[in-house]
Amino acid sequence: MAFYRVLALFVVCIALLVNLCFAGDPFAFFNFEVSYITASPLGVPQQVIAVNGKFPGPTINVTTNYNVVVNVRNKLDESLLIHWSGVQQRRSSWQDGVLGTNCPIPPKWNWTYQFQVKDQIGSFFYFPSLHFQRASGGYGSFIINNRAIIPIPFATPDGDITILIGDWYTRNHTALRKALDAGKDLGMPDGVVINGKGPYQYNTTLVPDGIDYETIEVHPGECCT
Ligand SMILES: *[C@@H]1O[C@H](CO)[C@@H](O)[C@H](O)[C@H]1NC(C)=O
Ligand SMILES: *[C@@H]1O[C@H](CO)[C@@H](O)[C@H](O)[C@H]1NC(C)=O
Ligand SMILES: *[C@@H]1O[C@H](CO)[C@@H](O)[C@H](O)[C@H]1NC(C)=O
Ligand SMILES: *[C@@H]1O[C@H](CO)[C@@H](O)[C@H](O)[C@H]1NC(C)=O
Repeated sequence: MAFYRVLALFVVCIALLVNLCFAGDPFAFFNFEVSYITASPLGVPQQVIAVNGKFPGPTINVTTNYNVVVNVRNKLDESLLIHWSGVQQRRSSWQDGVLGTNCPIPPKWNWTYQFQVKDQIGSFFYFPSLHFQRASGGYGSFIINNRAIIPIPFATPDGDITILIGDWYTRNHTALRKALDAGKDLGMPDGVVINGKGPYQYNTTLVPDGIDYETIEVHPGECCT
């Protein structure tokens, strides 16, 4: 009997502990539908991985202690994991979205990630961690803000600008993966994309016409520490 009482107490304690790490802290819910789209970041139409039809995917913008819940639906033709790069998974290592701690989400299936972000104020990003899919996109930014009671060691910025820069190949990730599997070098990337967009036409010979490029509006005198 005593044993059961101790056991019951223990179960209650565990329940309390589990409660403690979520109780009171806000939740932020996201739905991610991961699918292929056709896009031409470097002027060549190609298969790109989008989240909710967009490349890059939506920004996750949360504050320390938020519970982040992301329902990921896999509309690709191969398995998928989304990795929250750099986000410390405290007591939730199985939410990290990498092979070994997570089973891949099969095509046509969905899976809901849930984890709490702690005092890691800064800029992070998420990306698909399997099958070289990141080379085709599927990524987006992940911001963890400070709570109002935690001061930051600089003036409050006037704005928050997200810039995702990466190498880009006009070959799709399947083709790139095949090349790597065959022991071939991928060679120089075909270009660099900024927020999923290609280069500004700084030279009409080197950069083809009609490429969409990123513009960022800044105002003189505004604070961008
Ligand atoms: C990916 O690239 C390969 C090799 O170029 C091509 O055969 C295939 O059709 C491409 N897949 C898609 C969906 O664009
Ligand atoms: C799949 O998505 C549905 C709603 O779209 C949700 O109710 C369900 O919990 C999700 N399943 C998993 C395993 O995340
Ligand atoms: C993120 O949210 C904060 C407020 O919580 C806002 O000040 C900031 O501009 C947002 N950043 C982006 C990139 O949306
Ligand atoms: C554009 O690039 C070509 C090839 O490198 C070069 O010959 C040309 O001078 C460049 N044009 C300008 C306006 O810089």
